[in-house]
Amino acid sequence: MVFNLFPRSPWLRGKQELAAQNPSEAGSPRIFLTGVTGFVGGAIAANLAGSASFKEMLFLVRAQSAAEGVRRVRASIARFTRSAAPPAVSERQIILADLKDPQAFSDARLNDVTHVIHSAAVTSFADRPDIWEVNVNATLRLAARFSGHTRLRRFVYVGTAMACGVARGPVVTESMRLPEERAHLVPYTASKAQAENQLRERFPELPLVSVRPSIIIGHSALGCKPSASIFWILKLVSQLNRFVCPPTAHLDIVPVDYCAQTIVALTLKETLGFSAYHIAAGLNGSAMVEELLQAFHSMDGTAAGQPYERVSEEALLPLARSYSSRYAAENRVAKEPGSGLLNIRMLHKALMLYGRFSKLNYIFDTQRLLSEGLAPAPSFLDYIGRCDRSTRKLSLKAQMAYDFK
Ligand SMILES: NC(=O)c1ccc[n+]([C@@H]2O[C@H](COP(=O)([O-])OP(=O)(O)OC[C@H]3O[C@@H](n4cnc5c(N)ncnc54)[C@H](OP(=O)(O)O)[C@@H]3O)[C@@H](O)[C@H]2O)c1
Repeated sequence: MVFNLFPRSPWLRGKQELAAQNPSEAGSPRIFLTGVTGFVGGAIAANLAGSASFKEMLFLVRAQSAAEGVRRVRASIARFTRSAAPPAVSERQIILADLKDPQAFSDARLNDVTHVIHSAAVTSFADRPDIWEVNVNATLRLAARFSGHTRLRRFVYVGTAMACGVARGPVVTESMRLPEERAHLVPYTASKAQAENQLRERFPELPLVSVRPSIIIGHSALGCKPSASIFWILKLVSQLNRFVCPPTAHLDIVPVDYCAQTIVALTLKETLGFSAYHIAAGLNGSAMVEELLQAFHSMDGTAAGQPYERVSEEALLPLARSYSSRYAAENRVAKEPGSGLLNIRMLHKALMLYGRFSKLNYIFDTQRLLSEGLAPAPSFLDYIGRCDRSTRKLSLKAQMAYDFK
């Protein structure tokens, strides 16, 4: 079944499909990637690094010079490899720009692009004004730049499964119209929903595919080496052994390398049955909170501890305070300057927000993804040990820094 809610004009669709089916006419893919210095964008670039099309890729990067842009791209890719030498990147592959700049996409090199992967975003959970400028306005400017571009075979928008808002589930399917502002826990997911809705409504000519990852934690082989984002909060909950969700709540988690591999496959696959896909663990791969806690406790050797206790949101501030005091006492001799002090306000805020997400108890349906013949995600329980080992020498404060930039 071909699902096409907003069909392109027959002429444009014909041109784009001819290019997709006839590689000699279309040439090799020329991929334009935004967000390459981020967690997901870096993993996408690392996934493509061994491919023939890598040398033709263009990267949008914030930097003072093309040379600094090259350094940033290589350093980002290096996080996802074991090898000491990241792949060569040349200055002609760097588009120096800030997405907030209305001229960000004026570079003539973009005329040759065949595939766009738009991964850049402000991912903060705080109420920052640049969330709307970057996540919505810049995304729409990027779409305007490529709308009607006859060489373009696919425009991949990296959205988020959590853009579905609250009060869905327990198994969430890919709805095309996402709920806007009031139905969201944080402005970030509201902005992602608004951007995706507007892409569909305002750019029917665009060969748009939105990919919606669930919760991305770690790397299936490298653990948290590339980033400890979100992992620390699970570790913290395992140490508190208390949280606001029931122990049977599901968490739909995928590793970043699986996410990147799936985004690349959906970008380059010649035909797709749908225009929106969850990239998620789904029914078979999601773990319950009690299973995660059991895994943490057996790794820590605290398996015989107290049973997990479900608490109210009001209990989270005293918990953050007592954890912070205990942490300060335990880290008195730590060498890292300031490592003995955790910001209680930030800790409390993180517990509140992630607590609310955990209570949603969402599992994201992956039938569309599997119907494309793509592999299912590994379970988080399969690589939780690698995440844990890779963070043993990192203080909680250093891990929190991945999410409070
Ligand atoms: N991580 C997750 O759990 C998760 C889950 C679901 C969906 N997603 C989606 O995946 C995408 C990537 O997320 P991520 O985790 O990789 O985020 P991230 O690590 O915070 O990276 C954000 C990227 O966006 C770039 N960026 C932000 N503002 C910019 C601007 N004004 N101009 C140019 N570039 C800008 C950053 O560049 P700088 O390095 O210059 O700041 C960085 O490369 C996002 O669209 C997000 O919604 C992520």
